[in-house]
Amino acid sequence: MEERITLSVIKADVGGLCGHTIAHEELLEACEFVLDDAVDEILIDYYVTRCGDDIDLIMTHKLGIDNEKIHGLAWKAFEEATEVAKELKLYGAGQDLLAEGFTGNVKGMGPGCAEMEFVERPSEPIIVFCCDKTDPTAFNLPLYKIFADPFNTAGLVYDKSMKDGFKFDVLDIYEDKQITLKTPEETYSLLALIGNLEKYAVKRVHRAKDDEIAAVVSSEKLNLMAGEYVGKDDPVAIVRAQSGMPAVGEVLEAFATPHFVPGWMRGCHWGPLMPVSEEDARPSRFDGPARVIALGFQLSDGKLIGPNDLFEDISFNRAREQALKMADMIRKMGPFQPHRLPEAMMEYTSVPQILEGLKDRFEDTEKIEKIEKLRERGDME
Ligand code: F6R
Ligand code: MG
Ligand code: MG
Repeated sequence: MEERITLSVIKADVGGLCGHTIAHEELLEACEFVLDDAVDEILIDYYVTRCGDDIDLIMTHKLGIDNEKIHGLAWKAFEEATEVAKELKLYGAGQDLLAEGFTGNVKGMGPGCAEMEFVERPSEPIIVFCCDKTDPTAFNLPLYKIFADPFNTAGLVYDKSMKDGFKFDVLDIYEDKQITLKTPEETYSLLALIGNLEKYAVKRVHRAKDDEIAAVVSSEKLNLMAGEYVGKDDPVAIVRAQSGMPAVGEVLEAFATPHFVPGWMRGCHWGPLMPVSEEDARPSRFDGPARVIALGFQLSDGKLIGPNDLFEDISFNRAREQALKMADMIRKMGPFQPHRLPEAMMEYTSVPQILEGLKDRFEDTEKIEKIEKLRERGDME
């Protein structure tokens, strides 16, 4: 049997410099130190990066997805980084390590994770996307474009490996439910679901011809932890490219015209998703706007060759300009919708408590009208 490689991307925010802007270099070093120790033991290779205040651990191994040793290793790396964050008094030190201790899987404990297992092709180009200041549904639109829109992905028309389309696993993030829809036949039903960024997130994409895994996102059902829902957080995704999958350029093209995503400032606003280089993934204007980086690797027997910082390319300059124009435009709305998210989607806010405090001051409009009328007639003081 051919050997299978697992690619695990696990991320967490364990402290920012300053505020929620970026993860400190020393946190990345602390993670690298832990992962380095595990190479040849349980890891084949790793690469540590950051997008804004999130640290992203990109790891290869042979232990399969949801493996306790790999998740435990990531947890340990984040714990070590948290120690450094506490020493340096970074902002929100340890904020994503919500559980007291590790209990077998990082899911539902704060960190996010995207993993896929496959037999490495003779040449295996993969792209790891890491975001900040948005949530997993940010990938709904680009994944649709990449795997189902022939105006984005020419290969859907010209490559016979893709002519049967792709299967999308869509998660209902409030309930423990999932549905699989196949394109092109079920395109409209797929859009009916994933156009709703409040409730549905694309979790995985498989090539229909042979069920080969093509993409995975760190979307999980929302878990109730410490009295709050967690899991709707700065996402990561992995996409396989070329040789019967969308080309690298087709994958990236889906980010060339920025779209609005939820999660800007206090997790309460819509804003554009701006594709940037690793260097420029430092969201600071109104704590944003949301960023996405794209790191290209070639796998070589599980070794991560790269990365190629794909959005560094000047051909994404206009996408950045456009994202900034969209940001200027929507920022003018301030606390008004549609810049502001609907209540159910708002994160990190005391709006429910604020509204609760006003509840008793609301009066029946009919009653008020009656009083007004009495007043007019002089029957009331
Ligand atoms: C964090 C985020 C930020 C914070 C904001 C307020 O991911 O999106 O916009 O919500 O900076 O942070 P606190 O409440 O920690 O002062
Ligand atoms: Mg933070
Ligand atoms: Mg973040």
